Amino acid sequence: MPQRFTGKVVALTAAASGIGLSAVRKLASEGAVISASDLSIDALKEALGPLDLSEDRLMMRQCDVTDMQQVRAFIDDTVERFGQLDILVNNAGLGALADVTELEEDAWHKVIAVTLDSVFYACRAAMPHLVRTQGAVVNTASISGLFGDNGLFAYNAAKGGVVNLTRALAVDYARDNVRVNAVCPGLTATPRTAWMMEDAKIKAEYDSRLPMGRPGTPDEMADAIAFLASSEASYITGVNLPVDGGLTAATNQPQFLRMRSD
Ligand SMILES: NC(=O)c1ccc[n+]([C@@H]2O[C@H](COP(=O)([O-])OP(=O)(O)OC[C@H]3O[C@@H](n4cnc5c(N)ncnc54)[C@H](O)[C@@H]3O)[C@@H](O)[C@H]2O)c1
Repeated sequence: MPQRFTGKVVALTAAASGIGLSAVRKLASEGAVISASDLSIDALKEALGPLDLSEDRLMMRQCDVTDMQQVRAFIDDTVERFGQLDILVNNAGLGALADVTELEEDAWHKVIAVTLDSVFYACRAAMPHLVRTQGAVVNTASISGLFGDNGLFAYNAAKGGVVNLTRALAVDYARDNVRVNAVCPGLTATPRTAWMMEDAKIKAEYDSRLPMGRPGTPDEMADAIAFLASSEASYITGVNLPVDGGLTAATNQPQFLRMRSD
């Protein structure tokens, strides 16, 4: 196992489940010091306990990413505890399924707050520390930030914001040697999407549309996050990397060859 993150301090949001939890595991397994936060401290403790990391390698904090003061306190506590910050992983995000005429104002603001405001808050607090270490930001965006979905307009708007924020901050901080990139997961098998996989109709739709014929795993997203965070990506900044089994490579036209062989 390569040890790309020995001596590196990584702060992650929404780290108790799914992609965030896999990112913690991956980065820790390659030597990183982990500062993990989540809305639920109990869920975080339950999820990260089994990793058995020593106290000098792990800090856990409750942090609601929609609250700028909490996000700043999380970043400040990380630096106070470990002396530096090398990598920030902004992983929180929230969707809402609705037509534009139906979505309540509060629900719209919540999607934007969890998904987009959170990235601004964390980057605002972390950037001076990342400049000091010539560090990196990796955002968990989405393919939903690259294109439109049916009934997910608020999420599309918020993730689209994350995608372009990623580019803009990459440009602003390139001369400081702080790289800013994002992974854009396609369908990923996490607790959030379990209901989709349990719905036979939705699963059949995905089966026909996903070129690789399966959802991604949280570990596959974590591998991409780790790559973008690592020095192997030293000349990559401002990139929104689809990790989607080919979904965004396709036009979604009928699958002629598969139909012919059926
Ligand atoms: N699962 C997918 O198919 C998929 C696809 C594309 C993008 N994404 C993105 O990946 C990221 C992680 O998704 P996941 O599927 O692993 O989710 P998940 O549901 O498994 O985990 C989400 C975590 O976020 C935490 N959280 C929720 N609100 C929060 C808040 N206000 N402050 C802090 N933490 C909060 C939850 O407690 C939970 O631990 C999200 O940004 C999501 O939009 C997921």
